[in-house]
Amino acid sequence: MCGIIGYVGEKDCASILLNGLKRLEYRGYDSSGIAVLNSVNDKNEISMIRRVGNLKKLEKALSEVEMKGSLGIGHTRWATHGKPHRLNAHPHSDCKNEILLVHNGIIENYEPLRKELVLKGHKFVSETDTEVLVHLVEELYKDDLVEAVKETLKRVEGSYAIVVMSIKCPNQLVGARYDSPLVVGLGDDENFLVSDMPAVLEHTNKFLIIDQGEIVNVTKGKVEIYDRNGNKINKKPYKTNWDISLAEKEGYEDFMLKEIMEQPVAVRETYRAHVYKHKISLDESSLPLEIIKKAKKIFVIACGTSLFAGFVAKGVIEKFAKITVDVVTASEFRYMNPIIPDPSIIIAISQSGETLDTIAGIREAKKKKAWVLVVSNVMESSAVRESDGAMYTFAGPEIGVAASKTHTSQIMVSYLLALYLAKIRGTITEDEIAFHLETLKGVPDKIKSVLDNHDKIKELADIYHKFPNFIFIGRKFGLPAVMEGALKLKEISYIHAEAYPAGEMKHGPIALVGENCPVVAIVNKSSIYSKIISNINEVKARGASVLALATIGDSKIKNLADHVIEVPEIPEEFSAIINVVPLQLFAYEVAKKLGCNVDQPRNLAKTVTVE
Ligand code: AGP
Repeated sequence: MCGIIGYVGEKDCASILLNGLKRLEYRGYDSSGIAVLNSVNDKNEISMIRRVGNLKKLEKALSEVEMKGSLGIGHTRWATHGKPHRLNAHPHSDCKNEILLVHNGIIENYEPLRKELVLKGHKFVSETDTEVLVHLVEELYKDDLVEAVKETLKRVEGSYAIVVMSIKCPNQLVGARYDSPLVVGLGDDENFLVSDMPAVLEHTNKFLIIDQGEIVNVTKGKVEIYDRNGNKINKKPYKTNWDISLAEKEGYEDFMLKEIMEQPVAVRETYRAHVYKHKISLDESSLPLEIIKKAKKIFVIACGTSLFAGFVAKGVIEKFAKITVDVVTASEFRYMNPIIPDPSIIIAISQSGETLDTIAGIREAKKKKAWVLVVSNVMESSAVRESDGAMYTFAGPEIGVAASKTHTSQIMVSYLLALYLAKIRGTITEDEIAFHLETLKGVPDKIKSVLDNHDKIKELADIYHKFPNFIFIGRKFGLPAVMEGALKLKEISYIHAEAYPAGEMKHGPIALVGENCPVVAIVNKSSIYSKIISNINEVKARGASVLALATIGDSKIKNLADHVIEVPEIPEEFSAIINVVPLQLFAYEVAKKLGCNVDQPRNLAKTVTVE
């Protein structure tokens, strides 16, 4: 939930740290800080700046001072323990201001540790769980920082990615991780420790991925990694093909708008990566044929937007592959002792691959001997490394906190996976697959034509941004898209929005509709078209304005709904990937009208690495 960075090299590092933090800001933005160690005439000094608020505040403070030094750490925070306040911002320091530390995660046993350290005379200045870490390092430091960190972490329960520096070790950073991500960026005569790769892509595309329980000792010319038993290990660097332009706005007002507009490319790349010569390919090692043939059940586990992609997956897998699919919120799955028949397949969907709830669900599934296939946008992410197999989305880095291009790419993977499972289970013919692939190949162009409606959607936002509540309705394959549409509106515009199966309205929620509560309805041409038309009549009769998403050329809906967004025709089972796009744009334009920061909505962070 927080972003951490460390630099050791030869350059003045304050601006390097600040730029890295800017790329990590989506992980948290309520306060931030930087500490730099400067060695002058064999005398080491640490300077530190911390500010409450987003990085602009830190940037301004940095512009007013000179911060020299080639070793430093930085942090951008999403508060868990202790409100956003300068003293709760990281880096945190020991009693003598000699050891500094940044942390992403939660130290669950911080209270007894803090009491113990206070009794030993340590002075605490913040309300954070993190501060115990730096005092523990101080307490346990003899003459080796790696040893002190190692001993500290033996005492700690919870999740962490940390970077530590000390005035006594002017050329060295020590990092460690457990349940929160950390990678080493490998440069020439310089190295980085950082929460994720895009933060330092302008410096390197070569990385070492730090695994669970590992500790890493980094100097400008050397990286040593130790496993949880203290044994030195060697790793092969991972080279990413992401480049820096993908992590920049390129003229768009916000990352979110850029990412919405990138969807035709993201979805096309994702399709191409999995389809070759009209055949869907998936490695036997990612999902063995025997498991597919014998699977008794499939579970999809995910959170938030990825969960809604899971509902899309359920619809198409059940339709094509004729196997029962349960979709379960990952944070519930881990605690409900799920009954998983043997053999079963678990599909974990996570764009970041770092969502702790989803990773915990993966562990639960593996404990119960299920085969775990992860769908992720980040190769080498924790979820990928902990799963049995992976299917990737090829959306490129997504910086806006609200997911858009990764979602439609997840949906594309879901369609392809459903067809593949159906093929292996013998519930579909080759001809049918070829026919469906032809449809899916055309999806990027259809998304493009929806995006061409941007101006019209902007006008609609002008009308609708004044309402305090919304209800989104859909049926059958239309339901996951309205769930996602309502979530998008909530998270970036702070307008209360709920999604319901349209047929459920009469069982309660219709009591809410009226002049102040418009209804957004998905009404594509489909097998349940007439049913949803009846549901629209019901809400119209109660005075609600209706904004309908309907198939191009549908004249009936024009006479019924107050406003219509037209979407191209597509078979209903593949409609979610198109329908969700105007709903993203609608939420975006409403939020902009209300003056909201769409890239950094309040209270949220892109990657949720705490429970
Ligand atoms: C999306 O707009 C959200 N901010 C959030 O719901 C997100 O989808 C969820 O936290 C899951 O993230 P993941 O896909 O990286 O696991």
